[in-house]
Amino acid sequence: MSNPLAAAVGAVALENPLMNASGTFGSGKEYADFIDLRELGAVVGKSVTPRPTRGNPPPRLVETAAGMLNAIGLQNEGVDYFLRELLPELRARARVVVANVAGRSEDDYAEVTRRLSGANLDALEINISCPNVKCGGMAFGTDASAAARLTARLRAETPLPLWVKLSPNVTDLAAIARAVEQAGADALVVANTFLGMAIDIEKRRPLLANVTGGLSGAAIHPLALRCVWQVAGAVKCPVIGCGGVTGIREVIGFLLAGATAVQIGMSHFSEPAIIRRLTGELRAWCEAHQTTVREIVGGAREKLQIKN
Ligand SMILES: Cc1cc2nc3c(=O)[nH]c(=O)nc-3n(C[C@H](O)[C@H](O)[C@H](O)COP(=O)(O)O)c2cc1C
Repeated sequence: MSNPLAAAVGAVALENPLMNASGTFGSGKEYADFIDLRELGAVVGKSVTPRPTRGNPPPRLVETAAGMLNAIGLQNEGVDYFLRELLPELRARARVVVANVAGRSEDDYAEVTRRLSGANLDALEINISCPNVKCGGMAFGTDASAAARLTARLRAETPLPLWVKLSPNVTDLAAIARAVEQAGADALVVANTFLGMAIDIEKRRPLLANVTGGLSGAAIHPLALRCVWQVAGAVKCPVIGCGGVTGIREVIGFLLAGATAVQIGMSHFSEPAIIRRLTGELRAWCEAHQTTVREIVGGAREKLQIKN
Protein backbone atom coordinates (compact mmCIF):
# COMPACT_ATOMS: atom_id res chain seq x y z
CA MET A 1 0.00 0.00 0.00
CA SER A 2 1.28 3.48 -0.76
CA ASN A 3 2.40 5.69 2.12
CA PRO A 4 -0.52 7.93 3.25
CA LEU A 5 1.96 10.40 4.78
CA ALA A 6 4.00 10.87 1.57
CA ALA A 7 4.52 14.53 0.79
CA ALA A 8 6.73 16.67 -1.42
CA VAL A 9 8.18 20.15 -1.39
CA GLY A 10 8.62 20.60 -5.14
CA ALA A 11 11.28 18.11 -6.22
CA VAL A 12 12.10 17.12 -2.63
CA ALA A 13 10.15 13.96 -1.78
CA LEU A 14 9.30 13.42 1.91
CA GLU A 15 8.13 10.23 3.61
CA ASN A 16 6.37 12.41 6.14
CA PRO A 17 5.46 16.14 5.95
CA LEU A 18 6.85 16.94 9.42
CA MET A 19 10.27 18.49 9.93
CA ASN A 20 11.95 20.54 12.66
CA ALA A 21 12.16 24.33 12.41
CA SER A 22 15.68 25.77 12.17
CA GLY A 23 17.41 26.58 15.47
CA THR A 24 15.01 24.61 17.66
CA PHE A 25 16.59 21.18 17.24
CA GLY A 26 20.17 21.85 18.30
CA SER A 27 22.46 21.04 15.41
CA GLY A 28 20.25 17.99 14.82
CA LYS A 29 22.61 15.39 16.17
CA GLU A 30 21.89 16.15 19.89
CA TYR A 31 18.29 15.12 19.28
CA ALA A 32 19.34 11.73 17.91
CA ASP A 33 19.38 10.56 21.56
CA PHE A 34 15.61 11.16 21.67
CA ILE A 35 14.37 10.35 18.19
CA ASP A 36 15.68 8.43 15.20
CA LEU A 37 16.30 11.28 12.73
CA ARG A 38 14.89 9.06 9.96
CA GLU A 39 11.48 9.56 11.57
CA LEU A 40 11.53 13.21 10.49
CA GLY A 41 10.44 14.06 6.94
CA ALA A 42 13.53 16.27 6.85
CA VAL A 43 16.07 17.65 9.28
CA VAL A 44 16.67 21.40 8.97
CA GLY A 45 19.95 22.80 10.27
CA LYS A 46 20.38 25.91 12.38
CA SER A 47 21.23 29.09 10.47
CA VAL A 48 24.80 29.11 9.16
CA THR A 49 26.79 32.27 8.49
CA PRO A 50 30.13 32.57 6.66
CA ARG A 51 32.15 32.77 9.87
CA PRO A 52 31.48 31.85 13.54
CA THR A 53 28.95 34.24 15.12
CA ARG A 54 28.54 34.74 18.87
CA GLY A 55 25.02 36.07 18.73
CA ASN A 56 23.56 38.67 21.08
CA PRO A 57 24.52 39.18 24.73
CA PRO A 58 22.24 37.63 27.40
CA PRO A 59 19.53 37.74 28.56
CA ARG A 60 18.29 36.49 25.22
CA LEU A 61 15.41 34.16 26.10
CA VAL A 62 12.19 35.06 27.91
CA GLU A 63 9.27 32.75 28.60
CA THR A 64 5.85 34.23 27.84
CA ALA A 65 2.31 33.12 28.68
CA ALA A 66 2.02 30.85 25.65
CA GLY A 67 5.44 30.83 24.06
CA MET A 68 8.84 32.44 24.30
CA LEU A 69 10.80 35.39 23.05
CA ASN A 70 14.29 34.76 21.72
CA ALA A 71 17.01 37.13 20.66
CA ILE A 72 19.77 34.58 20.02
CA GLY A 73 21.05 36.52 17.02
CA LEU A 74 22.22 33.73 14.68
CA GLN A 75 24.84 32.20 17.00
CA ASN A 76 26.64 29.45 15.09
CA GLU A 77 30.09 28.05 14.34
CA GLY A 78 30.21 29.10 10.68
CA VAL A 79 29.96 27.28 7.37
CA ASP A 80 33.32 25.43 7.58
CA TYR A 81 32.32 23.84 10.88
CA PHE A 82 28.88 22.95 9.51
CA LEU A 83 30.40 21.19 6.51
CA ARG A 84 33.14 19.44 8.49
CA GLU A 85 31.47 18.50 11.81
CA LEU A 86 27.69 18.58 11.42
CA LEU A 87 26.69 17.68 7.89
CA PRO A 88 28.38 14.24 7.68
CA GLU A 89 26.57 13.09 10.80
CA LEU A 90 23.19 14.49 9.72
CA ARG A 91 23.68 12.95 6.28
CA ALA A 92 24.35 9.55 7.83
CA ARG A 93 21.35 9.70 10.18
CA ALA A 94 18.56 11.58 8.34
CA ARG A 95 16.65 10.90 5.13
CA VAL A 96 16.46 14.49 3.89
CA VAL A 97 18.85 17.23 5.05
CA VAL A 98 18.24 20.94 4.56
CA ALA A 99 20.79 23.61 5.51
CA ASN A 100 19.64 27.06 6.63
CA VAL A 101 21.60 30.05 5.28
CA ALA A 102 21.88 33.46 6.97
CA GLY A 103 24.08 36.52 6.84
CA ARG A 104 24.46 40.22 7.41
CA SER A 105 24.89 41.19 3.77
CA GLU A 106 24.06 39.83 0.31
CA ASP A 107 27.70 38.80 -0.02
CA ASP A 108 27.44 36.76 3.20
CA TYR A 109 24.39 34.87 1.92
CA ALA A 110 26.05 34.33 -1.47
CA GLU A 111 29.23 33.01 0.15
CA VAL A 112 27.40 30.47 2.35
CA THR A 113 25.14 29.42 -0.53
CA ARG A 114 28.15 28.88 -2.80
CA ARG A 115 29.99 26.86 -0.14
CA LEU A 116 26.95 24.66 0.55
CA SER A 117 26.13 24.14 -3.11
CA GLY A 118 28.75 21.49 -3.60
CA ALA A 119 27.68 19.60 -0.45
CA ASN A 120 25.42 16.59 -0.23
CA LEU A 121 22.26 18.49 0.72
CA ASP A 122 18.65 18.14 -0.40
CA ALA A 123 17.76 21.83 -0.23
CA LEU A 124 18.82 25.21 1.14
CA GLU A 125 16.50 27.25 3.35
CA ILE A 126 17.33 30.96 3.20
CA ASN A 127 16.60 32.80 6.43
CA ILE A 128 15.71 36.34 5.33
CA SER A 129 13.61 36.78 8.43
CA CYS A 130 15.75 36.72 11.61
CA PRO A 131 14.37 39.58 13.74
CA ASN A 132 17.40 39.59 16.07
CA VAL A 133 20.31 40.97 14.07
CA LYS A 134 20.96 44.63 13.38
CA CYS A 135 22.09 44.19 9.77
CA GLY A 136 20.81 41.63 7.29
CA GLY A 137 18.32 39.10 8.60
CA MET A 138 14.83 40.52 8.64
CA ALA A 139 15.93 43.60 6.67
CA PHE A 140 15.83 41.41 3.53
CA GLY A 141 12.54 39.80 4.42
CA THR A 142 10.56 42.97 5.03
CA ASP A 143 11.20 44.62 1.66
CA ALA A 144 9.90 42.95 -1.50
CA SER A 145 12.59 44.29 -3.81
CA ALA A 146 15.46 43.46 -1.40
CA ALA A 147 14.02 39.97 -0.88
CA ALA A 148 13.67 39.41 -4.62
CA ARG A 149 17.16 40.73 -5.39
CA LEU A 150 18.74 38.44 -2.81
CA THR A 151 16.72 35.44 -4.00
CA ALA A 152 17.72 36.05 -7.63
CA ARG A 153 21.37 36.30 -6.64
CA LEU A 154 21.26 33.05 -4.64
CA ARG A 155 19.30 31.33 -7.41
CA ALA A 156 22.26 32.01 -9.68
CA GLU A 157 24.67 30.56 -7.10
CA THR A 158 23.11 27.13 -6.63
CA PRO A 159 21.31 24.33 -8.44
CA LEU A 160 19.92 23.08 -5.09
CA PRO A 161 16.22 23.63 -4.32
CA LEU A 162 15.92 27.06 -2.72
CA TRP A 163 13.40 27.47 0.11
CA VAL A 164 13.02 31.05 1.34
CA LYS A 165 11.88 31.57 4.93
CA LEU A 166 9.72 34.68 5.08
CA SER A 167 9.25 37.22 7.85
CA PRO A 168 5.69 37.64 9.13
CA ASN A 169 6.56 41.15 10.37
CA VAL A 170 5.27 42.90 7.25
CA THR A 171 2.15 44.60 5.99
CA ASP A 172 1.75 42.77 2.68
CA LEU A 173 3.16 39.25 2.98
CA ALA A 174 1.53 38.11 -0.27
CA ALA A 175 3.42 40.76 -2.26
CA ILE A 176 6.76 39.66 -0.79
CA ALA A 177 5.91 35.99 -1.38
CA ARG A 178 5.11 36.67 -5.04
CA ALA A 179 8.31 38.69 -5.52
CA VAL A 180 10.44 35.94 -4.00
CA GLU A 181 8.74 33.23 -6.07
CA GLN A 182 9.24 35.21 -9.27
CA ALA A 183 12.92 35.68 -8.36
CA GLY A 184 13.39 31.91 -8.37
CA ALA A 185 12.46 30.42 -4.99
CA ASP A 186 11.31 26.81 -5.20
CA ALA A 187 9.34 26.94 -1.93
CA LEU A 188 8.43 29.40 0.83
CA VAL A 189 8.65 28.71 4.56
CA VAL A 190 5.93 30.66 6.37
CA ALA A 191 7.07 31.89 8.76
CA ASN A 192 9.74 32.99 11.20
CA THR A 193 9.00 34.51 14.62
CA PHE A 194 6.87 37.60 15.31
CA LEU A 195 8.66 40.65 16.71
CA GLY A 196 7.83 41.19 20.37
CA MET A 197 9.21 42.35 23.71
CA ALA A 198 8.84 41.96 27.47
CA ILE A 199 9.55 44.36 30.34
CA ASP A 200 10.93 43.56 33.81
CA ILE A 201 8.54 45.60 35.95
CA GLU A 202 10.82 45.64 39.02
CA LYS A 203 13.89 46.84 37.12
CA ARG A 204 11.65 48.93 34.85
CA ARG A 205 13.60 47.94 31.76
CA PRO A 206 13.27 45.53 28.83
CA LEU A 207 13.98 41.91 29.80
CA LEU A 208 15.97 41.13 26.66
CA ALA A 209 19.37 42.78 26.28
CA ASN A 210 18.44 43.20 22.62
CA VAL A 211 15.17 44.93 23.77
CA THR A 212 13.09 43.10 21.16
CA GLY A 213 12.98 39.41 20.24
CA GLY A 214 11.08 36.91 18.15
CA LEU A 215 7.92 35.36 19.61
CA SER A 216 7.37 31.65 18.94
CA GLY A 217 5.10 28.92 20.32
CA ALA A 218 1.39 28.33 20.75
CA ALA A 219 0.65 32.07 20.94
CA ILE A 220 1.62 32.65 17.31
CA HIS A 221 -0.19 29.75 15.65
CA PRO A 222 -3.33 31.61 14.53
CA LEU A 223 -1.10 34.37 13.12
CA ALA A 224 1.13 31.88 11.29
CA LEU A 225 -1.93 30.07 9.94
CA ARG A 226 -3.27 33.33 8.55
CA CYS A 227 0.15 33.93 6.92
CA VAL A 228 0.12 30.47 5.31
CA TRP A 229 -3.42 31.06 4.06
CA GLN A 230 -2.44 34.39 2.48
CA VAL A 231 0.79 33.10 0.92
CA ALA A 232 -0.73 29.86 -0.40
CA GLY A 233 -3.33 32.03 -2.11
CA ALA A 234 -0.68 34.23 -3.69
CA VAL A 235 1.90 31.78 -5.12
CA LYS A 236 2.05 28.54 -7.10
CA CYS A 237 5.19 27.14 -5.44
CA PRO A 238 4.92 24.92 -2.34
CA VAL A 239 4.47 26.51 1.07
CA ILE A 240 5.82 25.04 4.33
CA GLY A 241 3.83 26.05 7.41
CA CYS A 242 5.71 27.00 10.58
CA GLY A 243 4.62 28.54 13.86
CA GLY A 244 3.06 27.39 17.09
CA VAL A 245 2.52 23.71 16.38
CA THR A 246 1.89 21.84 19.63
CA GLY A 247 -0.50 19.14 18.39
CA ILE A 248 -2.06 17.44 15.41
CA ARG A 249 -4.78 20.09 15.03
CA GLU A 250 -2.23 22.71 14.04
CA VAL A 251 -0.48 20.31 11.63
CA ILE A 252 -3.72 19.49 9.82
CA GLY A 253 -4.78 23.15 9.93
CA PHE A 254 -1.60 24.19 8.10
CA LEU A 255 -2.14 21.43 5.49
CA LEU A 256 -5.78 22.40 4.97
CA ALA A 257 -4.73 26.06 4.55
CA GLY A 258 -2.45 25.01 1.68
CA ALA A 259 0.91 24.02 3.18
CA THR A 260 2.48 20.87 1.71
CA ALA A 261 4.73 20.33 4.75
CA VAL A 262 4.96 21.59 8.34
CA GLN A 263 7.85 22.62 10.58
CA ILE A 264 7.80 22.25 14.34
CA GLY A 265 9.91 24.58 16.42
CA MET A 266 10.02 25.26 20.14
CA SER A 267 7.71 22.36 21.05
CA HIS A 268 10.92 20.34 20.77
CA PHE A 269 12.19 21.98 23.97
CA SER A 270 9.49 20.34 26.09
CA GLU A 271 8.94 17.23 23.96
CA PRO A 272 12.07 16.25 21.99
CA ALA A 273 10.31 13.36 20.22
CA ILE A 274 7.17 15.38 19.34
CA ILE A 275 7.52 14.48 15.66
CA ARG A 276 7.19 10.77 16.54
CA ARG A 277 3.92 11.46 18.39
CA LEU A 278 2.53 13.74 15.70
CA THR A 279 3.47 11.30 12.93
CA GLY A 280 1.48 8.58 14.69
CA GLU A 281 -1.46 10.93 15.20
CA LEU A 282 -1.36 12.13 11.59
CA ARG A 283 -1.35 8.53 10.35
CA ALA A 284 -4.32 7.70 12.62
CA TRP A 285 -6.22 10.81 11.45
CA CYS A 286 -5.65 9.91 7.80
CA GLU A 287 -6.83 6.36 8.44
CA ALA A 288 -9.92 7.51 10.36
CA HIS A 289 -10.82 9.95 7.57
CA GLN A 290 -9.77 7.56 4.78
CA THR A 291 -7.50 10.16 3.26
CA THR A 292 -3.83 10.98 2.66
CA VAL A 293 -1.63 13.98 3.36
CA ARG A 294 -1.60 14.88 -0.34
CA GLU A 295 -5.41 14.92 -0.38
CA ILE A 296 -5.64 17.13 2.70
CA VAL A 297 -3.44 19.92 1.28
CA GLY A 298 -5.52 22.99 0.48
CA GLY A 299 -8.78 21.33 1.56
CA ALA A 300 -10.05 24.41 3.38
CA ARG A 301 -9.49 26.49 0.24
CA GLU A 302 -11.54 24.04 -1.85
CA LYS A 303 -14.37 24.31 0.69
CA LEU A 304 -14.55 28.02 -0.11
CA GLN A 305 -14.02 27.25 -3.80
CA ILE A 306 -10.85 29.30 -3.79
CA LYS A 307 -8.95 28.23 -6.89
CA ASN A 308 -5.46 29.30 -5.81
C1 LIG B 1 15.55 29.56 20.30
C2 LIG B 1 15.17 29.74 18.85
C3 LIG B 1 16.18 29.80 17.89
C4 LIG B 1 15.85 29.96 16.53
N1 LIG B 1 16.84 30.00 15.60
C5 LIG B 1 16.53 30.10 14.28
C6 LIG B 1 17.55 30.08 13.28
O1 LIG B 1 18.75 29.92 13.57
N2 LIG B 1 17.17 30.21 12.00
C7 LIG B 1 15.87 30.34 11.60
O2 LIG B 1 15.58 30.42 10.39
N3 LIG B 1 14.86 30.36 12.53
C8 LIG B 1 15.18 30.24 13.84
N4 LIG B 1 14.17 30.23 14.78
C9 LIG B 1 12.76 30.35 14.35
C10 LIG B 1 12.11 28.96 14.21
O3 LIG B 1 12.73 28.20 13.22
C11 LIG B 1 10.60 29.08 13.88
O4 LIG B 1 10.46 29.79 12.68
C12 LIG B 1 9.83 29.80 14.99
O5 LIG B 1 10.29 29.43 16.28
C13 LIG B 1 8.31 29.57 14.90
O6 LIG B 1 8.00 28.20 15.09
P1 LIG B 1 7.50 27.60 16.54
O7 LIG B 1 6.41 28.51 17.02
O8 LIG B 1 7.03 26.22 16.19
O9 LIG B 1 8.69 27.62 17.44
C14 LIG B 1 14.48 30.07 16.14
C15 LIG B 1 13.48 29.99 17.12
C16 LIG B 1 13.80 29.81 18.47
C17 LIG B 1 12.70 29.70 19.48
